[in-house]
Amino acid sequence: MFSVTISHMNELNSLYDLTGGETGLRTLVDRFYDLMDTAPEAKDIRALHAKSLSQSREKLFMFLSGWSGGPALYIEKYGHPRLRQRHMPFSIGDVERDQWLWCMNKALDESRFLPSVVDHLKTRFAEVADFMRNR
Ligand code: HEM
Repeated sequence: MFSVTISHMNELNSLYDLTGGETGLRTLVDRFYDLMDTAPEAKDIRALHAKSLSQSREKLFMFLSGWSGGPALYIEKYGHPRLRQRHMPFSIGDVERDQWLWCMNKALDESRFLPSVVDHLKTRFAEVADFMRNR
């Protein structure tokens, strides 16, 4: 079976390619927001979002595309992400961070990504989510 570790990633492919590009990232983002929309574990962060999650799905997909080394769709459309600043209108502490990561880690566990890719993404998402706290 084809196997790859993150240390080989740069020689082979970008993270974008390792996740399956647009199809893989959209599947991840859709599962992430489906979980946020339905799981009691995520009820506080669901309440922070708009009634429809379609805008959030599109924006997170576009952001992750560039963030993982693929097309910089978010920047092309909205400019520099300034993620921390864009999250300032929402009160984000440990509880909210943990709920966000609960959804993302579960979506990653259910994904078809290689285990090394899942581990790498979990670590990187945990760092970004930590940085998003503003209280
Ligand atoms: C730490 C917990 C987090 C919470 C509670 C949170 C919550 C939110 C909320 C409420 C919105 C606005 C959605 C709407 O308008 O309905 C948003 C937007 C967004 N979030 Fe998060 N978020 C978190 C972490 C993250 C992380 C870790 C990332 C990236 C890896 C991220 C990426 C984005 C992006 C790209 C947008 C769209 C920004 C824009 O253009 O307005 N968020 N988030």
